[in-house]
Amino acid sequence: MSSDVNFFGKDIVSMRDFSRKDVEYIMDLAEEMLPYAKGEKRTKCLEGKILGNLFFEPSTRTRMSFESAAYRLGLHVMDVTQTSMTSITKGETLADTIRMVDTYCDAIVLRHPNEGAARLAANVADSPVINAGDGAGSHPTQTLLDLFTMKRSKGSIDDLNIVLLGDLKYGRTVHSLSHALTMFGAKLTFVAPESLQMPHDIIESLKSKGCNPYMTDDLNDVIQDADVLYVTRIQRERFPDPNEYKKVAGMYRVNNEALRESKKDLIVMHPLPRVDEIAPEVDSTEHAKYFEQAFNGIPIRMALLASVMGGEL
Ligand code: NCD
Repeated sequence: MSSDVNFFGKDIVSMRDFSRKDVEYIMDLAEEMLPYAKGEKRTKCLEGKILGNLFFEPSTRTRMSFESAAYRLGLHVMDVTQTSMTSITKGETLADTIRMVDTYCDAIVLRHPNEGAARLAANVADSPVINAGDGAGSHPTQTLLDLFTMKRSKGSIDDLNIVLLGDLKYGRTVHSLSHALTMFGAKLTFVAPESLQMPHDIIESLKSKGCNPYMTDDLNDVIQDADVLYVTRIQRERFPDPNEYKKVAGMYRVNNEALRESKKDLIVMHPLPRVDEIAPEVDSTEHAKYFEQAFNGIPIRMALLASVMGGEL
């Protein structure tokens, strides 16, 4: 471990808490974790410790990849996936639930529908808390695996031309990712219908970091110069009014025709799940990286768990 990077006992709540050095440290460790993530090598470096995996919102990849990462490190996992089966339905507060879980395990992974939930949990728990998505807020572990995917595909993240497409208003993945990309001098373009553009406070924060994103509602305008196209799902569950969702549903779709003018080595990413925003015909092209991206959740989450829980390979 480089002498000034030390994650032991730390919470992972927001990309704002990370320096470029921290990100690079986790990516380097994830690289070392790869053969273990694939099951080619074995380690029990966190044997005897317990992870609390609390998911109070639907999840497939994030929950399962945390669980798989934990088992690959020799951890035991306590999994909660249904709020209805916990005392939360009896009126228990999140803070009380977290205080309890904190005494039952050595680290907590939390996904919650409310923005700020992970920060609150981190404040009440002694064990490290890892934010696995808090409402429309942030999703830092997704960002780390996104950066890892870009680095592995492109060699380096520096100065890449990155287009973020879709629901930039409610999508927590793009909130965390755009912040992190400013550390690498990436050129950012935001493509979204006006009502789903990146929130003003995030734009202001990016500007304060020296990044001036270009904004448009037309992918055709910008696809030619893109090195990375990061597509997101419209976050239906976050719309206060279903009629507002209906107005934007199905407004964009990336298919082979849309990619006709793109660079040959453009990579298309998506945190998944997709609904209809990437046509299945793109899956078999060289551009598609989203399934590899989903796998990269395992080595990245192994690196994070080993770092905050103190396991060495
Ligand atoms: C994302 C999420 O939950 O924010 N999914 C994920 O973690 N891979 C994106 C989404 O749900 O659209």
